[in-house]
Formats: sequence, C-alpha cells, structure tokens
Amino acid sequence: MSSLADKRILLGISGGIAAYKSADLVRRLKERGADVRVVMSAGAQEFVQPLTFQALSANPVHIDLLDPSAEAAMGHIELAKWADLILIAPASAQVMAKLAAGMADDLLTTLCLASEAPLALAPAMNQAMWRHAATSANAQTLKERGVIFWGPGAGSQACGDVGPGRMLEPENLAEHTESLFHTSHSLQGRKVVITAGPTREAIDPVRFLSNHSSGKMGFALAAAAQSAGAEVTLIAGPVNLDTPPKVNRIDVISAQDMYEAAKSAADHCDIFISAAAVADFRPAQVAEQKIKKKDGQDDDAIALIKNPDIVAAIATRTELRPFTIGFAAETEQVLAHAQSKLQRKNLDMIIANDVSQSDSGFNSDHNAVTVIDAGGQSRLAPALKTDLARQLIELIASKAQ
Ligand code: C5P
Repeated sequence: MSSLADKRILLGISGGIAAYKSADLVRRLKERGADVRVVMSAGAQEFVQPLTFQALSANPVHIDLLDPSAEAAMGHIELAKWADLILIAPASAQVMAKLAAGMADDLLTTLCLASEAPLALAPAMNQAMWRHAATSANAQTLKERGVIFWGPGAGSQACGDVGPGRMLEPENLAEHTESLFHTSHSLQGRKVVITAGPTREAIDPVRFLSNHSSGKMGFALAAAAQSAGAEVTLIAGPVNLDTPPKVNRIDVISAQDMYEAAKSAADHCDIFISAAAVADFRPAQVAEQKIKKKDGQDDDAIALIKNPDIVAAIATRTELRPFTIGFAAETEQVLAHAQSKLQRKNLDMIIANDVSQSDSGFNSDHNAVTVIDAGGQSRLAPALKTDLARQLIELIASKAQ
C-alpha cells in the first residue's frame, strides 16, 4: 500500500520563487497516494498559475476567502476540517509572521487558524530574511506552539546570495510527510547500520573509479528504519542526498574507509544492511601527482587490487555478528546470482534487483526487488524506493528477531 494512502494534505503555497518546486511536490505526494488540495496566497499566484496545481492535484485550487461559489463547493471551515496535515511550502517570511501573530486575513492563514490538523512549514526566503531577528522570533514562537519546521536548507539562492533559506527539495519534503504519518514500532530499541551509495577509488589526485549508485535506496532504508523506531547509523559514500531526520551519518569516500567505519559500527548493532555499491577493486597504487599522457601513447593500463568485501567480513564473524542483509544488483540471471551471493557471503537475507532496466534500480526513484533468505523467495511489486524501503524494513524486522 502507498505510504500516504488516504491521507489528506492541504498544501499551502505562499509567495516566493520556490513556488515552482511545489508543482513537483504535489506530484510526489500524489505518487505516494495522498489526496492533495492546494491553497495559494495572492503572492504565490504571481509566480505560478493556479491551473498548474489544479492539473497536478486533480482538485480545484483554493484562492479566495470570500468567493461565494468556492464556499458553496467546499467552505473554508470544511476545508480546514478535511485536512490531516497542512503543509506550507514554500513558507515565506510574511506567512510565518502572520501565523505567529494569529492573523487570518486571507484563505491560507484563516485555514491554519481554523484547523486542528498538524501544521508543517518548509521555509523559503533570502538568507538575510531568514536570519533576521524578527523571523527567528516568529519561528521560535511557532515551534513553541508545535508547528513543525522542515528546513530550510542552505546553499546558493535564486537572488545570488549563499546561505540558509532554500526550500528543501520536493522529494525530501515528501519523505518528511511520510515519516510524520508512519507509525510502525517494529524496530523500536534496535540498532541498525546501513551502508549506502558508491565508493570512490583514487587513481591520482584528480581521478577516481566509481559507479552510478545514487545512494537513494540506502537512504530510504535509513529513513524507514528510523521511522520504525531504530537507532540508525548510515555510512554514506559520496552522494548528493540530505540526511534523513534523526539518522547518524558517517561520510566516507573509499571502500577501505567504508570497511573501517562499518567494522566498528557493526560491533554495536543488531542489523547490518549493506546497500552500498562498493567498488570491488581499487588501483594498486595511487599516483601522487596527476598522471600525464606521454607523447605518442595510445594505450595504458591501471593495475587493480581487490577491496575488502565489507558485508562478507561482517556476516562471517563468529562474534558480534548482526543479522546481515546484502543487495545483489544484477543485469542478468538476477535470482541465480543473488542466491549464490547469499550463500557465499553467509548472509541472512539478500535483496536482488535487476539494474538493466533504465527506469528502475541505479540512479532512479523506483525499484523492483526479490527478497531471498533461507525460507525462500518473495517478489515485491515495483514501487518508489521510499515505499519499498518501508516494506523491506517491516520484512527485515519480522525476520531479525
Ligand atoms: O559481490 P557484489 O558486489 O555483487 O555483492 C553485493 C553485496 O555485497 C552488496 O550488499 C554490497 O553492499 C556488498 N559488498 C560489500 N563489499 C564489497 C563488495 C560488495 O559489502 N567489496
């Protein structure tokens, strides 16, 4: 079942350039099964047409407090009661100030005042506006009242400034929304270590060997394990992903760094999930200086040596051995290869996926997997990695007793 099935989300959009990203947010919430209704402030309509949100949400967009026909269709009090969550993304400094003061001078702020649903804000504004004492005080007031803040992130801004005030990415906001509604306690009190992403194996100071792993599956598993109550350590290779909420992240670059981090983290965990695409080999020697082409040279070769097999080292321990799960990303004979890895690496479970499909697996938001353990095989239907991660975590929790 989709993670937000039957959840009713009222998405408030206030004025700001990040409003264009909210179109993608609607799509991502809908993909997860949510029913989304959009409320736009007057400022938001200067940036994006309501029709965009009407088409994406498949619901009329609410814009006016005093529009008799809209009130006849679904009155503002009815709309306030309808919502399971009000999410304002982007939340401007202006809307934060109005909410902090309890104002109700347009439809969005009126709905916030009239609703008993949780309210989450994804702030988006210029870094100086975010840092201003007035905005800080408003944020503090709202937090004390129980309003949830997702972000802002930091980085380069539309205005050219660099600093805090960027709206979190739609995928990240959709994950936060899922976590808010996720109520599993299947891993309560358990410690989980997850490796994720690629590794980079240096050739010289400017070049490396690596692969296409995005880290999304491992990060989704970390978020799902945390939501299920686990204390999660995420050992991440070089990836461009935000750390899931309340997850302890250790960044590494090479397979050897990942090996060292994994060995010590695994000493204190109950479950070890190896979702990283670890480079099997590394250059035998790392050149101290950038390797130069020689005149007339048409070919060259790099000698490689084997990296440690991290998951096998942990699964073949005789002491301090956690319940150990590996992944098998294959392009052919997926199940046969996965089955043989399960035995060869002494794993408790292996998650096999076919990475030959371009719309699934590496670097994609979707995945389709088969889970294999001593009890047999079960195929999980193709789904978003975040949905799949939830299903996998529930399965793992039921087996790792
Ligand atoms: O042998 P292969 O790389 O296909 O095995 C995949 C599984 O083994 C994955 O779970 C991966 O994270 C893990 N692995 C590892 N260390 C390596 C190679 C793979 O932990 N050096």
